[in-house]
Amino acid sequence: MAGLFITIEGPEGAGKTTVLNRIAKKLQEKGQDVVQTREPGGIVIAEQIRSVILNKENTAMDARTEALLYAAARRQHLAEKVIPALKQGSIVLCDRFVDSSLAYQGFARGLGMSEVGSINEFAIGGVMPELTLLFDVRPEIGLARIHRHNGREVNRLDLEDISFHKKVREGYLALAELNKERIVIINAEQEEERVFQDAFSQIEKVLK
Ligand code: TMP
Repeated sequence: MAGLFITIEGPEGAGKTTVLNRIAKKLQEKGQDVVQTREPGGIVIAEQIRSVILNKENTAMDARTEALLYAAARRQHLAEKVIPALKQGSIVLCDRFVDSSLAYQGFARGLGMSEVGSINEFAIGGVMPELTLLFDVRPEIGLARIHRHNGREVNRLDLEDISFHKKVREGYLALAELNKERIVIINAEQEEERVFQDAFSQIEKVLK
């Protein structure tokens, strides 16, 4: 495909969204055609699935159901938004993708990375990002940031205890170790300007 697919990963409170907004703006200023989006969501059907997954009242949700819903939202978003944009030659910046499912459902929920990988292979049909930026932050720091950030809604997964969030980080770091050619770790405990600079310099490398 003609475009460039870049994903941003990391736990809650890593500052992904703020930095992503800045990256998109800077790329646009450089004349690039950018599509900024997020998972789960980004289009109507996937946003509907998102609200089912993240609804705090859905305490009965089975872990496999959760994994399947994320994969379903991913498929729809890919088919309706990401693939058409890549075919048109855009840079697609996506907040979360398959690595989120591997770290959260596969590793932290304990469903198994290879099991969750299999349902996702079906969902994504071989479409993978060229670059993944992993915003790494210790959960104590990330969670403290979201509790300070008033505007952000607290969702069902935020309500998991700290040991779950520690496992998410462990899962992510294991994925980075296994996929060194694709995943770059960004130290997201630094001040925002440094995080942005580090992230942008990695993107410039794949643009060249
Ligand atoms: P967000 O807060 O970054 O929008 O993400 C919503 C939540 O969904 C967040 O807690 C991470 C979680 N998530 C998964 O558990 N698996 C996934 O595949 C995705 C995309 C998100």
